[in-house]
Amino acid sequence: MNILVLSAGTRNKIIQYFKKSIVGRVIATDMQRIAPAIYEADIFYLVPRISDPGYLDIILDICKKEKINAVFSLIDPELSLLAANQRKFDELGVRVIGSSYELCERSLDKMQMFTWLKERGYRCARSYSEKDIFYSDLERGLISFPVFVKPIRGSASIAISKVEDRETLDLLWTHTDDLMVQEYLKGQEIGADVYIDMISREVVSIFTKKKIVMRAGETDKAVSFKDPLLFDLIERFVRESGYLGQIDIDIFEVDGQYYISEVNPRFGGGYPHAYECGCDHMKMIENNVDGKINQRAIGNYEDGIYMMKYNEVLIRK
Ligand SMILES: Nc1ncnc2c1ncn2[C@@H]1O[C@H](COP(=O)(O)OP(=O)(O)O)[C@@H](O)[C@H]1O
Ligand SMILES: [Mg+2]
Repeated sequence: MNILVLSAGTRNKIIQYFKKSIVGRVIATDMQRIAPAIYEADIFYLVPRISDPGYLDIILDICKKEKINAVFSLIDPELSLLAANQRKFDELGVRVIGSSYELCERSLDKMQMFTWLKERGYRCARSYSEKDIFYSDLERGLISFPVFVKPIRGSASIAISKVEDRETLDLLWTHTDDLMVQEYLKGQEIGADVYIDMISREVVSIFTKKKIVMRAGETDKAVSFKDPLLFDLIERFVRESGYLGQIDIDIFEVDGQYYISEVNPRFGGGYPHAYECGCDHMKMIENNVDGKINQRAIGNYEDGIYMMKYNEVLIRK
């Protein structure tokens, strides 16, 4: 299998793992020459920004030239672009590793995700995008301060804050568009790396970890754990949603109950923890691209394994 990794950025480990796990070439792209991960690949291409009108054709040309079998992106805004153009990739025999357009969009939009979760009875943080409804619920005692404020379509923990009072909230709401207010969840943050077989559409791998330290929106230190109840919840949620391929889910445990917070339908920043513990999703992708169904391997890892991130540097001329 030849795989094309789009917007590789600083995700060196992802490229390294593909090189280790699959038979074939790994090709990477980025818009910047100083994206360290591209130098891990067998070949790399510098491409325009994803919003450039010629972008998609350039990617399709790379697929033809490099005889690519599968493609995926590591950044949120590109997921919907790939999903929306799935047919063009199909015509070249290239499998897009990812979920449907509708699911990519729902995952990007935290209000849409909240509505979906609430309607189906999943525990999740009560959320508001309208000031009047929030204040009316506040008066009725349905929600109280502190609350969590974030952009509806945010990522990487940009512009998020815990807000303690009405004055601060008013100020934020006046100065920033498209914000949402959420019930503040006080508990253990959990990350799940999940693989859904793209042929059988069954959940075949789940790795869960407790987040110990976060840094710049990413899990910096974490420890693996297993809870059959959480595996069941994840499986039900993922199946009901219809996600495919690799996804990353943020969950909170509050007073012994699991709350689903958000989904990134791609490799999350904490995936190295799962891979190093034996959850080889690169191999699962290769199997699917080769037409093979993956066997169910949920929870095939040890608990109590710690991940500690540290910095690395790449020097190039
Ligand atoms: N309702 C909430 N209560 C408490 N903390 C939250 C809440 N929502 C988000 N957070 C914290 O903020 C971080 C970023 O929020 P998240 O919704 O995951 O957005 P994104 O990762 O897309 O920036 C989370 O990892 C978590 O630490
Ligand atoms: Mg998140």
